[in-house]
Amino acid sequence: MSGPRTPDPLALVIFGATGDLTRRKLLPAVYRLFLGGLLPADFAVVGFGREEMSDDDFRARMRAALEEHAEAPDAARWEAFAPRLTYLGVGFEPEGFGKLREHLEGLGAAAGNRLYYLAVPPNVFSGVVENLGRAGLAKPPDERGWTRVVVEKPFGRDLESARRLNAELLRVFDERQVFRIDHYLGKETTQNLLVFRFANVIWEPLWSRNHVDHVQITVGETVGVERRAGYYDQAGALRDMVQSHLLQLLTLVAMEPPASYDADSIRSEKVKVLRSVRPMAREAVAREAVRGRYAASRRGNVPGYLDEEGVPAGSRTETYAALRLFVDNWRWAGVPFYLRTGKRLCDRATEVVVRFRPAPHPIVDLVEGDDPVPNTLVLRIQPNEGISLWFEAKVPGLVGRLQPVSMDFDYTSFGVESPEAYQRLLLDAMLGDATLFARRDEVESAWTLVTPILEAWAEGGEPEPYPAGSWGPEGADRLLEQDGRRWRAP
Ligand code: BG6
Repeated sequence: MSGPRTPDPLALVIFGATGDLTRRKLLPAVYRLFLGGLLPADFAVVGFGREEMSDDDFRARMRAALEEHAEAPDAARWEAFAPRLTYLGVGFEPEGFGKLREHLEGLGAAAGNRLYYLAVPPNVFSGVVENLGRAGLAKPPDERGWTRVVVEKPFGRDLESARRLNAELLRVFDERQVFRIDHYLGKETTQNLLVFRFANVIWEPLWSRNHVDHVQITVGETVGVERRAGYYDQAGALRDMVQSHLLQLLTLVAMEPPASYDADSIRSEKVKVLRSVRPMAREAVAREAVRGRYAASRRGNVPGYLDEEGVPAGSRTETYAALRLFVDNWRWAGVPFYLRTGKRLCDRATEVVVRFRPAPHPIVDLVEGDDPVPNTLVLRIQPNEGISLWFEAKVPGLVGRLQPVSMDFDYTSFGVESPEAYQRLLLDAMLGDATLFARRDEVESAWTLVTPILEAWAEGGEPEPYPAGSWGPEGADRLLEQDGRRWRAP
């Protein structure tokens, strides 16, 4: 995690500049960094795409994007910001990259360092990387400069394709130049997981199989497939969410304290966790993994996945996935990690729940049926960002009743607005800090874990339906009930 340093002068080249990500996330993030005084005096943003457009048209579009997704710039700020934006509608063929080189050379001081942002669909990805290499744009323009590449998801669709992408990238770039983004790592609350664990001594003695009964990681979304069926139907919940965001959260919860807080020490510890997760044998998939697909809501006002625009007839894509994983190492042996994520659930909630073991001996004189609830720590990643620790308390009175109560920390108590994930990540990539980006072996280890499940699901069967607006399929409840446990309702 870096301090408020200012990056070197740089040109940010966005491939896929006319796409949704640029409008919704990237440009608003750049603009907020600019407003916060976190960008160098010499910076340039070069939009690169297929569509022909003048610089002024591009600027107008980006201004509209800021109005919609950030804030409407006032005249003075816009005047200072707009000239930094230029656009090249030269297409993704090799000639376009020659033009990009010329364009970059004309940018003055900002041309010395280059950050390429690959916000392009997977079928364009390899071509961009190769053409950057061929045009001599992968190397820094001189020995004092640097060149880096930020890669958006999806990073492959299984282990084999991820390896291929890595090989293609690393033929042209060095691993130290590659920044694979997982925007969950840029969320303040995700970053706080490490601070919570390693800047406080009270958790460490409890943070293991000796005191933890199990861990739940939930990423619930209320949105459906939106207008992304083209991508989503090829992906599904396991690829879209579990392989990246949920496994990243798991590594942060389960990792050992790193020897130091540099990018490689932290990422090496995360890789060790992924490598310790017990691989799921094909025959275990039916027992350890559940897939679901939303059907119409009970009131019928929300369509089911199969009736969404762009979803092909006969699709077997899951919009929900739940897994039971075990981290087979000294710290976690025997402690289940239950992961679940889905679209069209009843609540938007991302949280990590650490459930501790029950007290070993019951308190005498309890009212009958008043079972003590084990301690529970809830780390709310979003929304209502915060942390709650639940513990038992005696209800005042002459009979010995117990009731769970909580100690709560609320992020809003800082009185400052959390930066958007993309702000943090873009700034880190500009500064060359790769801590919050996935390393090659991390991505491949995550794919190694989910690929047997993908393969087993591809062999046949259908996802279990769940009504839109519910907490997912019943099979996911049974996954925990078999172990005598229940999902915690966020
Ligand atoms: C993306 C997925 O990576 O994360 C989307 O492709 C999902 O399907 C999104 O909706 C969720 O992100 P957030 O930040 O809204 O929780």
